[in-house]
Amino acid sequence: MSYDFNKSFNRKGTGCIKWDCCPPSTCPQVLPMWIADMDFETPDFVIQGIEERLKHPVFGYFRPEQRFYDAIIQWHRDRFGVDTLKPEHILYQHSVLGSIATALEVLTDKGDGVLVQTPGYAKFKEIITQHERLLVANPLHFDGNRYEIDFEDMEEKLRKHPVKVALFCSPSNPVGRVWETDEIIRYVKLCEKYNVTIVADEIWADFAYGRKHTPLHTVAGSWRNRVISLYAPTKTFNLAGLVISYAVIFDEGLAKQFQDYGDATHYNNCNALSMEALISAYQEGGPWVDLLNGYLADNAAFTEAFLKEHLPQVRMARPEGTYLIWLDFRDTGYSMDEIVDRCVNRAGVILNNGRTCIDSGDLCMRMNIAAPRHLVEEGLNRLKQAFTE
Ligand SMILES: Cc1ncc(COP(=O)(O)O)c(C=O)c1O
Repeated sequence: MSYDFNKSFNRKGTGCIKWDCCPPSTCPQVLPMWIADMDFETPDFVIQGIEERLKHPVFGYFRPEQRFYDAIIQWHRDRFGVDTLKPEHILYQHSVLGSIATALEVLTDKGDGVLVQTPGYAKFKEIITQHERLLVANPLHFDGNRYEIDFEDMEEKLRKHPVKVALFCSPSNPVGRVWETDEIIRYVKLCEKYNVTIVADEIWADFAYGRKHTPLHTVAGSWRNRVISLYAPTKTFNLAGLVISYAVIFDEGLAKQFQDYGDATHYNNCNALSMEALISAYQEGGPWVDLLNGYLADNAAFTEAFLKEHLPQVRMARPEGTYLIWLDFRDTGYSMDEIVDRCVNRAGVILNNGRTCIDSGDLCMRMNIAAPRHLVEEGLNRLKQAFTE
Protein backbone atom coordinates (compact mmCIF):
# COMPACT_ATOMS: atom_id res chain seq x y z
CA MET A 1 0.00 0.00 0.00
CA SER A 2 1.20 3.52 -0.72
CA TYR A 3 -0.32 6.90 0.03
CA ASP A 4 1.12 10.35 -0.38
CA PHE A 5 0.68 12.15 2.95
CA ASN A 6 2.77 15.01 1.56
CA LYS A 7 0.11 15.88 -0.99
CA SER A 8 -1.80 19.05 -0.17
CA PHE A 9 -5.12 20.08 -1.64
CA ASN A 10 -7.58 22.89 -1.30
CA ARG A 11 -10.29 22.32 1.30
CA LYS A 12 -11.66 25.85 1.12
CA GLY A 13 -15.20 26.28 -0.12
CA THR A 14 -16.37 22.89 1.19
CA GLY A 15 -17.92 24.34 4.34
CA CYS A 16 -15.21 22.69 6.40
CA ILE A 17 -14.84 24.33 9.78
CA LYS A 18 -11.06 24.11 9.82
CA TRP A 19 -10.42 26.22 6.70
CA ASP A 20 -13.70 28.02 6.02
CA CYS A 21 -14.65 29.08 9.55
CA CYS A 22 -11.37 30.26 11.07
CA PRO A 23 -11.55 32.89 13.81
CA PRO A 24 -10.79 36.40 12.53
CA SER A 25 -7.14 37.28 11.96
CA THR A 26 -5.46 40.44 10.73
CA CYS A 27 -3.14 38.19 8.72
CA PRO A 28 -4.26 37.89 5.08
CA GLN A 29 -3.21 34.22 4.74
CA VAL A 30 -4.09 32.10 7.74
CA LEU A 31 -2.87 28.57 8.32
CA PRO A 32 -5.39 26.57 10.34
CA MET A 33 -3.89 24.07 12.79
CA TRP A 34 -6.80 23.86 15.17
CA ILE A 35 -9.97 21.73 15.03
CA ALA A 36 -9.23 18.00 15.05
CA ASP A 37 -9.58 16.71 11.53
CA MET A 38 -6.83 15.96 9.05
CA ASP A 39 -5.58 17.68 5.92
CA PHE A 40 -5.18 14.28 4.28
CA GLU A 41 -7.55 12.83 1.72
CA THR A 42 -9.88 10.11 2.92
CA PRO A 43 -8.26 6.95 1.51
CA ASP A 44 -9.58 5.73 -1.84
CA PHE A 45 -10.79 2.34 -0.54
CA VAL A 46 -13.26 4.16 1.74
CA ILE A 47 -14.54 6.33 -1.09
CA GLN A 48 -14.86 3.26 -3.32
CA GLY A 49 -16.99 1.56 -0.66
CA ILE A 50 -19.39 4.50 -0.75
CA GLU A 51 -19.36 4.55 -4.58
CA GLU A 52 -20.25 0.89 -4.71
CA ARG A 53 -23.39 1.54 -2.65
CA LEU A 54 -24.31 4.49 -4.86
CA LYS A 55 -24.72 2.08 -7.77
CA HIS A 56 -27.97 0.89 -6.20
CA PRO A 57 -30.58 3.59 -6.84
CA VAL A 58 -32.69 3.24 -3.70
CA PHE A 59 -31.84 4.63 -0.27
CA GLY A 60 -34.88 3.65 1.75
CA TYR A 61 -35.11 2.89 5.46
CA PHE A 62 -32.49 0.44 6.58
CA ARG A 63 -30.71 -1.00 9.59
CA PRO A 64 -26.99 -1.72 9.99
CA GLU A 65 -26.42 -5.16 8.50
CA GLN A 66 -24.38 -8.05 9.89
CA ARG A 67 -21.44 -6.75 7.76
CA PHE A 68 -21.35 -3.64 9.96
CA TYR A 69 -20.94 -5.69 13.15
CA ASP A 70 -18.49 -8.12 11.53
CA ALA A 71 -16.26 -5.26 10.36
CA ILE A 72 -16.16 -3.71 13.84
CA ILE A 73 -15.48 -7.06 15.54
CA GLN A 74 -12.67 -7.83 13.09
CA TRP A 75 -11.14 -4.35 13.55
CA HIS A 76 -11.05 -4.68 17.31
CA ARG A 77 -9.60 -8.18 17.03
CA ASP A 78 -6.87 -7.16 14.58
CA ARG A 79 -5.94 -3.81 16.09
CA PHE A 80 -6.44 -4.36 19.82
CA GLY A 81 -6.51 -8.14 20.27
CA VAL A 82 -10.10 -8.06 21.53
CA ASP A 83 -11.87 -11.39 21.03
CA THR A 84 -14.83 -10.90 23.37
CA LEU A 85 -16.87 -8.57 21.22
CA LYS A 86 -20.25 -9.77 19.92
CA PRO A 87 -22.85 -7.93 17.82
CA GLU A 88 -25.10 -7.43 20.84
CA HIS A 89 -22.34 -5.41 22.56
CA ILE A 90 -22.18 -2.91 19.69
CA LEU A 91 -24.67 -0.04 19.59
CA TYR A 92 -24.76 2.28 16.62
CA GLN A 93 -24.50 5.92 17.71
CA HIS A 94 -24.55 9.08 15.60
CA SER A 95 -21.60 10.61 17.36
CA VAL A 96 -19.28 10.13 20.29
CA LEU A 97 -20.44 13.39 21.84
CA GLY A 98 -24.04 12.29 21.40
CA SER A 99 -23.16 9.08 23.23
CA ILE A 100 -21.65 11.06 26.08
CA ALA A 101 -24.83 13.13 26.31
CA THR A 102 -26.88 9.93 26.41
CA ALA A 103 -24.61 8.44 29.07
CA LEU A 104 -25.00 11.54 31.23
CA GLU A 105 -28.78 11.43 30.93
CA VAL A 106 -28.98 7.70 31.61
CA LEU A 107 -26.47 7.50 34.45
CA THR A 108 -26.70 10.79 36.30
CA ASP A 109 -29.08 13.45 37.58
CA LYS A 110 -28.69 17.21 37.45
CA GLY A 111 -25.96 18.31 39.83
CA ASP A 112 -24.16 14.95 39.86
CA GLY A 113 -20.42 15.03 39.36
CA VAL A 114 -18.54 13.94 36.24
CA LEU A 115 -14.81 13.44 36.69
CA VAL A 116 -12.53 14.61 33.86
CA GLN A 117 -8.75 14.79 33.59
CA THR A 118 -7.55 18.28 32.69
CA PRO A 119 -6.38 19.78 30.44
CA GLY A 120 -9.19 18.03 28.59
CA TYR A 121 -11.26 18.14 25.44
CA ALA A 122 -13.20 21.44 25.34
CA LYS A 123 -16.48 19.80 24.37
CA PHE A 124 -16.42 17.68 27.53
CA LYS A 125 -16.93 20.82 29.54
CA GLU A 126 -19.56 22.09 27.14
CA ILE A 127 -21.61 18.93 27.26
CA ILE A 128 -21.37 18.48 31.05
CA THR A 129 -22.43 22.10 31.55
CA GLN A 130 -25.24 21.91 28.98
CA HIS A 131 -26.66 18.93 30.85
CA GLU A 132 -26.32 20.79 34.15
CA ARG A 133 -23.94 18.26 35.68
CA LEU A 134 -20.98 19.21 37.82
CA LEU A 135 -17.56 19.01 36.17
CA VAL A 136 -15.04 17.69 38.68
CA ALA A 137 -11.55 18.38 37.35
CA ASN A 138 -8.62 16.06 38.05
CA PRO A 139 -5.60 18.03 36.78
CA LEU A 140 -2.91 15.95 35.11
CA HIS A 141 0.55 16.13 36.61
CA PHE A 142 3.43 17.12 34.31
CA ASP A 143 6.63 15.41 35.43
CA GLY A 144 8.82 17.49 33.10
CA ASN A 145 8.57 14.88 30.40
CA ARG A 146 5.00 13.66 30.18
CA TYR A 147 1.56 14.20 31.66
CA GLU A 148 0.35 11.67 34.22
CA ILE A 149 -2.84 11.06 36.13
CA ASP A 150 -2.62 12.41 39.67
CA PHE A 151 -4.24 9.45 41.42
CA GLU A 152 -4.07 11.04 44.89
CA ASP A 153 -6.01 14.03 43.60
CA MET A 154 -8.40 11.74 41.75
CA GLU A 155 -9.20 9.80 44.92
CA GLU A 156 -9.69 12.98 46.90
CA LYS A 157 -12.10 14.28 44.24
CA LEU A 158 -14.03 11.01 44.22
CA ARG A 159 -14.26 11.10 47.99
CA LYS A 160 -15.33 14.74 48.24
CA HIS A 161 -17.73 15.15 45.31
CA PRO A 162 -20.90 13.35 44.24
CA VAL A 163 -19.20 11.80 41.21
CA LYS A 164 -21.33 9.26 39.34
CA VAL A 165 -19.45 9.11 36.04
CA ALA A 166 -15.77 9.24 35.12
CA LEU A 167 -15.21 10.41 31.56
CA PHE A 168 -11.90 8.99 30.45
CA CYS A 169 -10.22 10.21 27.27
CA SER A 170 -7.91 7.49 25.99
CA PRO A 171 -5.62 8.33 24.25
CA SER A 172 -5.74 11.83 25.61
CA ASN A 173 -6.93 14.88 23.74
CA PRO A 174 -5.13 17.30 24.17
CA VAL A 175 -1.90 16.01 25.74
CA GLY A 176 -1.39 12.99 23.46
CA ARG A 177 -0.81 10.40 26.17
CA VAL A 178 -1.44 6.76 25.30
CA TRP A 179 -2.13 5.52 28.80
CA GLU A 180 -0.16 2.55 30.07
CA THR A 181 -2.10 -0.54 31.05
CA ASP A 182 -1.07 -0.11 34.70
CA GLU A 183 -2.38 3.44 34.75
CA ILE A 184 -5.70 2.32 33.27
CA ILE A 185 -6.04 -0.49 35.81
CA ARG A 186 -5.37 1.93 38.66
CA TYR A 187 -7.97 4.31 37.21
CA VAL A 188 -10.57 1.54 36.99
CA LYS A 189 -9.85 0.33 40.54
CA LEU A 190 -10.50 3.81 41.93
CA CYS A 191 -13.76 4.07 40.01
CA GLU A 192 -14.79 0.68 41.33
CA LYS A 193 -13.91 1.68 44.90
CA TYR A 194 -16.13 4.76 44.64
CA ASN A 195 -18.89 3.09 42.63
CA VAL A 196 -18.39 5.29 39.57
CA THR A 197 -19.44 4.24 36.05
CA ILE A 198 -16.79 4.80 33.40
CA VAL A 199 -17.42 6.36 30.02
CA ALA A 200 -14.25 5.59 28.06
CA ASP A 201 -14.01 7.90 25.05
CA GLU A 202 -11.61 5.95 22.84
CA ILE A 203 -12.23 7.84 19.61
CA TRP A 204 -8.42 8.29 19.36
CA ALA A 205 -7.72 4.57 19.88
CA ASP A 206 -6.35 4.08 16.37
CA PHE A 207 -3.74 6.81 16.80
CA ALA A 208 -1.03 5.27 18.93
CA TYR A 209 2.62 5.31 17.99
CA GLY A 210 4.42 5.66 21.33
CA ARG A 211 2.89 2.46 22.65
CA LYS A 212 -0.05 0.18 21.94
CA HIS A 213 -3.49 1.39 22.94
CA THR A 214 -5.17 -0.68 25.67
CA PRO A 215 -8.96 -0.60 25.50
CA LEU A 216 -10.12 0.13 29.03
CA HIS A 217 -12.80 -2.58 29.00
CA THR A 218 -10.16 -5.27 28.41
CA VAL A 219 -8.51 -4.57 31.77
CA ALA A 220 -11.58 -3.60 33.77
CA GLY A 221 -12.21 -7.05 35.27
CA SER A 222 -15.69 -7.36 36.73
CA TRP A 223 -16.10 -3.56 36.54
CA ARG A 224 -16.42 -4.02 32.75
CA ASN A 225 -20.17 -4.18 33.33
CA ARG A 226 -20.01 -0.56 34.45
CA VAL A 227 -18.11 0.64 31.39
CA ILE A 228 -19.38 2.32 28.24
CA SER A 229 -16.67 2.49 25.56
CA LEU A 230 -17.00 4.85 22.62
CA TYR A 231 -15.38 4.47 19.21
CA ALA A 232 -15.64 5.82 15.68
CA PRO A 233 -13.84 5.55 12.35
CA THR A 234 -14.38 9.27 11.79
CA LYS A 235 -11.12 10.65 13.24
CA THR A 236 -9.06 7.79 11.88
CA PHE A 237 -10.22 8.01 8.27
CA ASN A 238 -11.19 11.70 8.15
CA LEU A 239 -14.92 11.05 7.93
CA ALA A 240 -16.28 13.41 10.59
CA GLY A 241 -18.61 15.04 8.05
CA LEU A 242 -20.22 11.67 7.34
CA VAL A 243 -21.17 11.20 11.01
CA ILE A 244 -21.01 7.70 12.48
CA SER A 245 -19.84 6.09 15.72
CA TYR A 246 -20.70 3.24 18.06
CA ALA A 247 -20.71 2.33 21.71
CA VAL A 248 -19.47 -0.95 23.15
CA ILE A 249 -21.36 -2.07 26.27
CA PHE A 250 -21.03 -5.55 27.73
CA ASP A 251 -23.73 -5.35 30.37
CA GLU A 252 -27.13 -6.19 28.91
CA GLY A 253 -29.10 -3.94 31.27
CA LEU A 254 -26.86 -0.95 30.74
CA ALA A 255 -26.90 -1.51 26.98
CA LYS A 256 -30.70 -1.54 27.00
CA GLN A 257 -30.92 1.68 29.03
CA PHE A 258 -28.50 3.33 26.65
CA GLN A 259 -30.25 2.04 23.53
CA ASP A 260 -33.71 2.99 24.81
CA TYR A 261 -32.63 6.57 25.45
CA GLY A 262 -31.15 6.90 21.95
CA ASP A 263 -34.25 5.33 20.40
CA ALA A 264 -36.52 7.75 22.25
CA THR A 265 -34.77 10.71 20.62
CA HIS A 266 -35.64 9.34 17.15
CA TYR A 267 -32.42 11.01 15.98
CA ASN A 268 -30.12 8.05 16.17
CA ASN A 269 -30.54 6.12 12.93
CA CYS A 270 -27.54 5.09 10.88
CA ASN A 271 -26.88 6.63 7.46
CA ALA A 272 -26.51 4.06 4.68
CA LEU A 273 -23.42 5.69 3.13
CA SER A 274 -21.71 6.19 6.49
CA MET A 275 -22.17 2.51 7.20
CA GLU A 276 -20.45 1.63 3.91
CA ALA A 277 -17.62 4.01 4.77
CA LEU A 278 -17.11 2.31 8.15
CA ILE A 279 -17.16 -1.17 6.63
CA SER A 280 -14.63 -0.36 3.90
CA ALA A 281 -12.43 1.54 6.33
CA TYR A 282 -12.35 -1.30 8.85
CA GLN A 283 -12.06 -4.09 6.29
CA GLU A 284 -9.17 -2.55 4.39
CA GLY A 285 -7.73 0.23 6.52
CA GLY A 286 -5.18 -1.52 8.74
CA PRO A 287 -2.09 -0.97 6.55
CA TRP A 288 -3.16 2.60 5.81
CA VAL A 289 -3.54 3.43 9.51
CA ASP A 290 -0.04 2.03 10.13
CA LEU A 291 1.33 4.37 7.45
CA LEU A 292 -0.65 7.27 8.88
CA ASN A 293 0.70 6.69 12.38
CA GLY A 294 4.24 6.54 11.01
CA TYR A 295 3.76 9.87 9.27
CA LEU A 296 2.22 11.50 12.35
CA ALA A 297 5.02 10.20 14.57
CA ASP A 298 7.51 11.80 12.15
CA ASN A 299 5.53 15.06 12.17
CA ALA A 300 5.64 15.04 15.98
CA ALA A 301 9.39 14.36 16.03
CA PHE A 302 9.91 17.09 13.44
CA THR A 303 7.91 19.56 15.55
CA GLU A 304 9.85 18.68 18.68
CA ALA A 305 13.23 19.08 16.96
CA PHE A 306 12.16 22.37 15.37
CA LEU A 307 11.03 23.86 18.66
CA LYS A 308 14.17 22.73 20.47
CA GLU A 309 16.35 24.38 17.86
CA HIS A 310 14.41 27.52 16.94
CA LEU A 311 11.89 28.25 19.67
CA PRO A 312 13.07 26.59 22.89
CA GLN A 313 10.93 28.91 25.02
CA VAL A 314 7.88 27.01 23.69
CA ARG A 315 7.92 23.56 25.24
CA MET A 316 6.03 20.47 24.20
CA ALA A 317 5.45 17.04 25.67
CA ARG A 318 6.17 14.43 23.01
CA PRO A 319 2.83 12.81 22.09
CA GLU A 320 2.52 9.02 22.19
CA GLY A 321 -0.60 9.16 20.04
CA THR A 322 -3.25 11.45 18.51
CA TYR A 323 -2.12 14.27 16.22
CA LEU A 324 -2.37 16.98 18.82
CA ILE A 325 0.57 18.80 20.32
CA TRP A 326 0.19 20.56 23.63
CA LEU A 327 2.38 23.64 23.49
CA ASP A 328 3.43 25.36 26.70
CA PHE A 329 4.25 29.07 26.20
CA ARG A 330 4.97 29.89 29.85
CA ASP A 331 8.66 30.53 29.26
CA THR A 332 7.93 33.16 26.60
CA GLY A 333 6.89 35.54 29.40
CA TYR A 334 3.80 36.62 27.46
CA SER A 335 0.27 36.78 28.82
CA MET A 336 -2.43 34.52 27.34
CA ASP A 337 -3.84 37.43 25.31
CA GLU A 338 -0.39 38.22 23.91
CA ILE A 339 0.21 34.58 23.04
CA VAL A 340 -3.10 34.32 21.19
CA ASP A 341 -2.47 37.64 19.43
CA ARG A 342 0.97 36.55 18.25
CA CYS A 343 -0.32 33.20 17.01
CA VAL A 344 -3.47 34.47 15.30
CA ASN A 345 -2.51 37.93 14.08
CA ARG A 346 1.27 37.95 13.70
CA ALA A 347 1.81 34.36 12.61
CA GLY A 348 -1.65 33.82 11.10
CA VAL A 349 -1.55 30.34 12.63
CA ILE A 350 -4.86 29.25 14.12
CA LEU A 351 -4.40 27.03 17.18
CA ASN A 352 -6.84 26.09 19.94
CA ASN A 353 -6.58 28.31 22.98
CA GLY A 354 -5.43 26.16 25.91
CA ARG A 355 -7.92 27.86 28.19
CA THR A 356 -10.77 26.24 26.26
CA CYS A 357 -9.30 22.84 27.16
CA ILE A 358 -11.18 23.01 30.46
CA ASP A 359 -8.75 23.68 33.27
CA SER A 360 -4.98 23.78 33.49
CA GLY A 361 -4.63 25.24 29.99
CA ASP A 362 -3.47 28.72 30.85
CA LEU A 363 -0.53 29.89 28.69
CA CYS A 364 -0.87 26.76 26.54
CA MET A 365 -2.14 26.18 23.01
CA ARG A 366 -3.17 23.01 21.17
CA MET A 367 -1.70 22.42 17.72
CA ASN A 368 -2.98 19.95 15.12
CA ILE A 369 -0.17 18.38 13.07
CA ALA A 370 -2.28 16.10 10.86
CA ALA A 371 -1.17 17.86 7.72
CA PRO A 372 1.49 17.50 5.01
CA ARG A 373 4.92 18.11 6.52
CA HIS A 374 5.52 21.30 4.54
CA LEU A 375 2.42 22.87 6.12
CA VAL A 376 3.56 21.86 9.61
CA GLU A 377 6.95 23.37 8.82
CA GLU A 378 5.36 26.55 7.52
CA GLY A 379 3.26 26.86 10.68
CA LEU A 380 6.32 26.41 12.89
CA ASN A 381 8.32 28.93 10.88
CA ARG A 382 5.54 31.47 11.20
CA LEU A 383 5.37 30.90 14.97
CA LYS A 384 9.14 31.22 15.23
CA GLN A 385 8.99 34.61 13.52
CA ALA A 386 6.04 35.79 15.56
CA PHE A 387 7.72 34.92 18.86
CA THR A 388 11.27 35.99 18.12
CA GLU A 389 10.89 39.26 16.25
C1 LIG B 1 -12.01 13.03 22.69
C2 LIG B 1 -13.02 13.33 21.62
N1 LIG B 1 -14.25 12.83 21.71
C3 LIG B 1 -15.19 13.08 20.78
C4 LIG B 1 -14.90 13.87 19.68
C5 LIG B 1 -15.97 14.17 18.69
O1 LIG B 1 -16.58 12.98 18.26
P1 LIG B 1 -17.92 13.04 17.41
O2 LIG B 1 -17.63 13.89 16.22
O3 LIG B 1 -18.19 11.61 17.05
O4 LIG B 1 -18.95 13.61 18.30
C6 LIG B 1 -13.61 14.41 19.54
C7 LIG B 1 -13.28 15.28 18.41
O5 LIG B 1 -12.28 15.94 18.39
C8 LIG B 1 -12.65 14.13 20.54
O6 LIG B 1 -11.41 14.62 20.47
